[in-house]
Amino acid sequence: MAYNLLKGKKGIIFGALDEKSIAWKTALRCHEEGAELVLSNAPIALRMGAINQLAEQVNAPVIAADVTVNEDIQALFEKTKEHFNGGVDFILHSIGMSLNVRKGVHYTQNNYDFTHKGFDISALSLHRILAEAMRQDAINEWGSVVALSYIAAQRVFPDYNDMSDNKAILESIARNFGYYYGSQRKVRVNTVSQSPTRTTAGSGVKGFDGFIDYAEKMSPLGNASADQCADYCVTLFSDLTRMVTMQNLFHDGGFSYTGVTQSVIEQMGK
Ligand SMILES: NC(=O)c1ccc[n+]([C@@H]2O[C@H](COP(=O)([O-])OP(=O)(O)OC[C@H]3O[C@@H](n4cnc5c(N)ncnc54)[C@H](O)[C@@H]3O)[C@@H](O)[C@H]2O)c1
Repeated sequence: MAYNLLKGKKGIIFGALDEKSIAWKTALRCHEEGAELVLSNAPIALRMGAINQLAEQVNAPVIAADVTVNEDIQALFEKTKEHFNGGVDFILHSIGMSLNVRKGVHYTQNNYDFTHKGFDISALSLHRILAEAMRQDAINEWGSVVALSYIAAQRVFPDYNDMSDNKAILESIARNFGYYYGSQRKVRVNTVSQSPTRTTAGSGVKGFDGFIDYAEKMSPLGNASADQCADYCVTLFSDLTRMVTMQNLFHDGGFSYTGVTQSVIEQMGK
C-alpha cells in the first residue's frame, strides 16, 4: 500500500546490486511513495547489468560512482543536480564490502591492505558523500540521509570480522556529521541497524545461515526482512521523522534488547 509519503521528493539510492539488495527494495518503495530517484553503484557492479532493470522500473538514471573516489562522488552530485535541476531530499547509503571477509582472512590475522579497502568502501564513504554533498549544497533543507548498519558495531559476532569495526565507525560518522549538517542545513543523518538479511553482501559472512536462524529465534518479532527495511527507510525519508537525527535505529524485531527467548531456551535444552 502506498501513502504518497515521498511525493515531490528526490533522492539518490546507492548500492542496488540485484533484486535481493536492500537498496533495490528501498528504491522500489520510494518510487511507489512518489519519489524521483537517481541510482548509483560502483562501475564494476553496473557492468553486471541488473541495475538497468530496476532503473526502468523506477524510471531513474543510473550514474556510476566508486565511493572510494572523490572525483566520482563530485561528478555524481553535479550530474544529479543537473538531472533534478536542484538538490536532493534524501540519500540511502547501502554500501558495504570487506576483503578480509571475502577472502576468509581471520580477524586476528587481518590483511591491512584489505582492511583499508573495506574501511574506505564501508565507512569512510559516508563521510566522503556527506562532505561532497555539503560542499555542493546538494541536499535540501530538512533532507534525510540513512546508512545501513549492523549490531556487530556494539556486540561481538565472530566472523563478521573487520566489518564490525567498519560499522562502528559508520555509526560514529553519522553521529558526528549529523551534528554539523543538522546545525548548518537542518539535514538529518541516521543509521539503521538491520537484522541479518539474505543478500550478496550478507551471505558472504561465514556461517551466515546459523547467524540468521539464531537471530530469528532471538527476536520476539522474528528477523526484519529487506522489504520491511525499505518501509522503515521510507518513513525516515518522509517529513514524519524530521526531528530524528544522529541516531542508530535498530530495525531488528527486538533482537538488540532481548537477553534470551523461550525458543532459544528450548533449543539449548535439546
Ligand atoms: N545483508 C545483511 O545481513 C545486512 C544486515 C545489516 C546491514 N547490512 C548492510 O546493508 C548494506 C547493503 O547491503 P546488502 O545486504 O543489500 O548487500 P548488497 O551486496 O546487495 O549491497 C552492497 C552494495 O555495496 C556496493 N559497493 C561495494 N563496493 C562499492 C564501491 N566501491 N562503490 C560503490 N558501491 C560499492 C555493491 O556494489 C553493492 O551494491 C550494507 O551496508 C550492509 O553491510 C546488511
